Amino acid sequence: MAIDRIFLVGLMGAGKSTIGKQLAKVLNKTFVDSDREIESQTGVAIPLIFELEGEEGFRRREREMIDKLTLQANTVLATGGGAVMNEDNRKALRERGYVVYLHATVEQLLERTRMDRNRPLLQTEDPRAKLEELLSIRDPLYRDVADITIDTGLVSIREVVQQLVQKFEAL
Ligand code: S3P
Repeated sequence: MAIDRIFLVGLMGAGKSTIGKQLAKVLNKTFVDSDREIESQTGVAIPLIFELEGEEGFRRREREMIDKLTLQANTVLATGGGAVMNEDNRKALRERGYVVYLHATVEQLLERTRMDRNRPLLQTEDPRAKLEELLSIRDPLYRDVADITIDTGLVSIREVVQQLVQKFEAL
């Protein structure tokens, strides 16, 4: 069975965009990133959306975007880390494509998001505590929507992409 749509879920820094871009290239699919689509639709960066409309406003935009993007054919979609908090999003992801959970430890996520100013939820005194909290709340939800879980911590991005391609070829 050829897989038409692949959806990547996981926390900020798990590698959804980096892995998604390479995976799309190898599989000859179009890469789409829900956050970047929201930014190009609104013309502003995510932190400004949070500032102007609150997290609630961002989540509404995200829900609409996920609904639209999960219907696009032949894509690899990187979702925002919080997309799975919403039941409609989880349903769309589960029903419309093959969902890959990119799992990483808090240590690895922290390292990869250290310099980042584009993630409002991590602009806090204690980003480690925030990531721990988010991981404990969301990990069960990521696992619930996922068809497979891949550990991104121990191997290179290239190897993760290879593992996934092999997986899809075997389906
Ligand atoms: C968020 C993750 C971000 C972005 C927003 C909120 C979250 O996406 O959607 O800052 O709630 O985890 P990435 O996971 O692509 O960084």
